[in-house]
Amino acid sequence: MSLHSIFVFIFLLSPFSIPTPADAISFVSPIQKDSSTLLYSLTLFLKTPLQPTRLHLDLGAPFTWVACDSGYSSSTYQHIPCLTPLCDSLGHNLPCSICFNTPSPSCANSTCSLFPENSVTRKTAISTALSDSLALPTSDGSTQGPPILLSSYIFSCSPTSLLEGLANNVTGLAAFGRSNYSLPAQVSNTFSVPRCFALCLPGSTSGPGVALIGSVGPYYFSPQKIDLSKSLVYTPLVLNPVGSTVVPYTGEPSDEYYINVTAINVNGKPIQINSSLLTVDENGFGGTKLSTAAPYTILETSIYNALTEAFVNESLALNLTVTNAVKPFSVCYLEADIIVTRVGPGVPTVDFVMQSEDVFLRVFGSNSMVRIAGDGGDVWCLGFVDGGVNPRTSVVMGGHQMEDNLLQFDLDNNRLGFTSSVLLKGTTCSNFNFASEG
Ligand SMILES: *[C@@H]1O[C@H](CO)[C@@H](O)[C@H](O)[C@H]1NC(C)=O
Ligand SMILES: *[C@@H]1O[C@H](CO)[C@@H](O)[C@H](O)[C@H]1NC(C)=O
Ligand SMILES: *[C@@H]1O[C@H](CO)[C@@H](O)[C@H](O)[C@H]1NC(C)=O
Ligand SMILES: *[C@@H]1O[C@H](CO)[C@@H](O)[C@H](O)[C@H]1NC(C)=O
Ligand SMILES: *[C@@H]1O[C@H](CO)[C@@H](O)[C@H](O)[C@H]1NC(C)=O
Ligand SMILES: *[C@@H]1O[C@H](CO)[C@@H](O)[C@H](O)[C@H]1NC(C)=O
Ligand SMILES: *[C@@H]1O[C@H](CO)[C@@H](O)[C@H](O)[C@H]1NC(C)=O
Repeated sequence: MSLHSIFVFIFLLSPFSIPTPADAISFVSPIQKDSSTLLYSLTLFLKTPLQPTRLHLDLGAPFTWVACDSGYSSSTYQHIPCLTPLCDSLGHNLPCSICFNTPSPSCANSTCSLFPENSVTRKTAISTALSDSLALPTSDGSTQGPPILLSSYIFSCSPTSLLEGLANNVTGLAAFGRSNYSLPAQVSNTFSVPRCFALCLPGSTSGPGVALIGSVGPYYFSPQKIDLSKSLVYTPLVLNPVGSTVVPYTGEPSDEYYINVTAINVNGKPIQINSSLLTVDENGFGGTKLSTAAPYTILETSIYNALTEAFVNESLALNLTVTNAVKPFSVCYLEADIIVTRVGPGVPTVDFVMQSEDVFLRVFGSNSMVRIAGDGGDVWCLGFVDGGVNPRTSVVMGGHQMEDNLLQFDLDNNRLGFTSSVLLKGTTCSNFNFASEG
């Protein structure tokens, strides 16, 4: 039985229960990595009767959306009337829908309308806001508990065409942004649990990672039942005052998570960076954000060049000489030349340094290098990409660099907790115990 089917199986057997405040519970969902798009998705349960639903995981989106222009069937969905306080709180001056087709989830009159956005393709649409039942399994940090129902989870309908560019099997997008209507925000508001969630993105497509919502820890991982919340190092979350959604909401800050990277070190030595690139300016330009829409970290050109030069130089000291590059990367080494350690290929480390010299996210070979084997040979390439000369954001920390790291987004304390590679602790993000230990 696959982990996923075990998960569904346990879910179907478990009775529903309402948590008491004393329960240190959190909500859990496995995170899958898609091998063709390299994007992440999670599984939750939506509609009545509850249906397993796979949604693209989006760290910066303000609200969840689900394709519902065909085959959305549920006995509990409700439209959200426009010109109501709820509609107003979803966004200022949202339009009221008019629809001349058969009434359906995506077709109603005088309903609050939203602009669901695909953060990978940057396409958007206009569609109705809905509320419906959503359920997530619970966990005490190590074992599976009974699923808990949110009877009126608020999200947006979307046309099916908005799914283009996401993993094949997803039917929508699960939002984890700072907004009051992201998935973690609605869970925290409904159950009065901490406004805190943790993501552990899987390092491969074979085993799922985990999203833990509403808990500050412990987060137990096998085989040693190690509590990764004890290994967290913290840096403040920075607010970008200007959002960059396709349909702009004037005066609204960004729902994305920014951190204050002040230096990038290769093998402990700082690279030359124009420091104004690392600061978010009053127009929302510059700075460093975390993004699940980018498979690899994207760097502004001058930062990219400084990083690759320093990396090549430091690698020479390890007797590593670059070979032919494989796009989109520019620094590659023959697989045969590289030794593999427990944190991946033995290459220079890349540190993202934050508010002080001893607060840094260390990127080892498992998170910096990408194996590319094919007709042209077998190489390891430095997995960062050039973002051009005038990108909106100077450093977009992408999926590959976040995998097998536990990241805790603690909104109550406005900080990001991170572990750096959990491989160093002898575990991986796929080692969370979903199944009850009995
Ligand atoms: C919306 O209102 C128009 C005109 O008032 C009507 O023709 C249409 O059928 C209505 N649509 C729905 C989905 O009820
Ligand atoms: C999509 O889901 C089906 C059934 O759950 C599964 O067999 C298939 O491998 C999945 N495809 C992808 C790309 O995940
Ligand atoms: C967030 O949403 C909840 C309802 O889910 C509401 O009670 C609360 O006032 C909202 N907070 C803000 C800041 O809009
Ligand atoms: C980021 O760090 C720099 C250097 O320590 C500091 O001057 C700046 O105020 C910080 N910015 C924010 C938004 O915390
Ligand atoms: C640093 O970057 C800022 C913003 O891109 C630019 O205005 C400035 O000229 C740069 N300074 C140097 C020394 O390159
Ligand atoms: C290149 O590496 C050497 C030693 O490994 C170091 O002393 C030197 O500063 C580096 N140069 C650059 C431009 O990174
Ligand atoms: C690099 O190669 C030289 C010459 O073959 C050798 O002396 C040196 O020990 C090697 N260094 C490393 C770090 O392997």
